[in-house]
Amino acid sequence: MVKPAERLKSIELSQIRKMFEVCDDSAISLGIGEPDFDIPENVKIAINNALEEGFTHYTHNKGFLELREEISKKLRSDNKVNIDPNSILVTVGASEALYICAQGFFEKGDEILIPDPGFLSYKACVDISEATTIPVEAKISNDYKIKLEDVEEKISSKTKAFIMNSPSNPTGAVMDKKDIKAIADLATDHDFIIISDEIYEKIIYDKKHYSPKQFTDNAIIINGFSKTYAMTGLRIGYLAGEEEIIEELLKVHQYNTACAPSISQIGGYEALKGPQGYVKTMVKEFKRRKDLISKRLDDLNLECTPLEGAFYAFPQVENAKDYVKKALDVGVITVPGSGFGQTCECNVRMSYANSYENIEEAMNRLEKIK
Ligand SMILES: Cc1ncc(COP(=O)(O)O)c(C=O)c1O
Repeated sequence: MVKPAERLKSIELSQIRKMFEVCDDSAISLGIGEPDFDIPENVKIAINNALEEGFTHYTHNKGFLELREEISKKLRSDNKVNIDPNSILVTVGASEALYICAQGFFEKGDEILIPDPGFLSYKACVDISEATTIPVEAKISNDYKIKLEDVEEKISSKTKAFIMNSPSNPTGAVMDKKDIKAIADLATDHDFIIISDEIYEKIIYDKKHYSPKQFTDNAIIINGFSKTYAMTGLRIGYLAGEEEIIEELLKVHQYNTACAPSISQIGGYEALKGPQGYVKTMVKEFKRRKDLISKRLDDLNLECTPLEGAFYAFPQVENAKDYVKKALDVGVITVPGSGFGQTCECNVRMSYANSYENIEEAMNRLEKIK
């Protein structure tokens, strides 16, 4: 058999997917990282109409212009950044945007700073690019918020990028504006790029999201529609940055996917252009669940930092692997922290993207763990 490339050998498949393979139907899943809501009704209608009208062909490689114009408007009003539609690249989810950045920026010898704990794709994408990951610990003593000092002490002459993710998967932490700004200044001074994964920006509770792009040209924004509009399966996201950079990164996108799916682009366009009440209602419901899970984890004596964004809790347990197994035995799927970094042997991730009633029942079951 012809062997796949050596560099893939050390890359593990997602632990989260592994959890689903072992689950039976009666188990309640706190494993999944996607909103349990249907897509907005106006998006559904727009997609159906577009299908009827035959909007099923290749689009501009960067995405159709009207969508990029809407994204540009959104970035101006929500994130206070002026990014021309030409400097926006519509991708197959934030996942492709991340992969494009890794292939487009990183090479052997580069050091890439990634949050630890952090989203598991970051390390995998860096590994595939053959650059080196340098974990930046998001300290529990700082409620998992990355601070300027945490990044500063990891900077070397080889630092090429820092992947920032606020609100964070898996901790639910939201970084402070002063740290975002200070790290942006650091990127300017030391000439590295901040790859800012802002996919959870709207799923935030009593906090405000700030994009580092507001403070430095040395930042590129990754965002998408999967979380804000529950459009995970439509696979639609985007990259926004400086035009010369986007033109280069376009090469990776063009020879990989040509363009994001036309129908999903219509979905993205309608999601941005249409009413935003859907997002408010969804976030209100997530907040209700967050309050529930925070209280119940507290009752269970599972220590958890304040949950400020996204839809994950990342409580501490004695031994994550044992806990995940015991939870599975009582019918609850959780994810061991080890998948999210080197510092998480004693954490489990619980997603509250499940109904209020299911979360309540899951907590009742977890109460039975000795
Ligand atoms: C932090 C983070 N970034 C990116 C993604 C990928 O999102 P998409 O569905 O847009 O590819 C996820 C999905 O779970 C995520 O949690």
